[in-house]
Amino acid sequence: MAKAKVDLPDKVPEHVAIIMDGNGRWAKQRGLPRLAGHRAGTENLRRIIEACVEFGIKYLTIYAFSTENWGRPEDEVSGLMGIFDEVFERELTELHKQGAKLNHIGRLDEVRESLREKVIKGMELTKNNKRLVLNVAFNYGGRDEIVQAVKSIIKDGVEAENVNADVIADHLYTAGMPDPDLVIRTSGEQRISNFLIWQAAYAEWVFPETLWPDFGREELLAAIREFGKRERRYGLVLQN
Ligand code: FPP
Repeated sequence: MAKAKVDLPDKVPEHVAIIMDGNGRWAKQRGLPRLAGHRAGTENLRRIIEACVEFGIKYLTIYAFSTENWGRPEDEVSGLMGIFDEVFERELTELHKQGAKLNHIGRLDEVRESLREKVIKGMELTKNNKRLVLNVAFNYGGRDEIVQAVKSIIKDGVEAENVNADVIADHLYTAGMPDPDLVIRTSGEQRISNFLIWQAAYAEWVFPETLWPDFGREELLAAIREFGKRERRYGLVLQN
């Protein structure tokens, strides 16, 4: 059966970023190991990518693994790496079919080779896709990203007086992309956690209570509708 046309607000965010929080609690509520929560969270990602394509969102950035997440218990880290290994292989064809372009943001050089190769292969396969850019923040930290940007500005020999916000933005992993309009953190936690700290300076934030594995199409739609009601001022006073 064909899907009924969805009633979207006039203003749909071009770039949505998500902190996919609550996998561990989702698993705990069911008496399951934390990794079962991460697996359910991974399954959910497919639904959200599909919904983003349906709603006409052009950029989706997801926080998959932070530079701080290496400090989690060893079995959780290795389990997560196993999930990433599987997913980058298994989901690639589907992603390609959806017209999504995979892009990695973060430190790929520190990721094990087998995984690094899969990510690179995925980016190569999907590089001409135009419907959605999927930024996977993996081994990503916002402060680290700014440190890397400063280093590359210095390496490029930019004179101090020529450094400005545009130059910094052009040296971030997201160079050439619009900033996120809407950032969603699921599970009710209200923290930035080193995610897109430069790019999200003027983003609208929503903090739904739903745990990530249960955050589906309807919840995304509710967040977009909430965004549609917000008045963005960018530090200015709006004229009537
Ligand atoms: C936060 O929940 C979630 C993570 C640290 C991992 C997110 C990763 C996925 C959903 C895997 C899918 C991603 C890709 C690219 C395949 P938490 O463990 O902090 O939950 P808790 O706060 O309830 O303990």
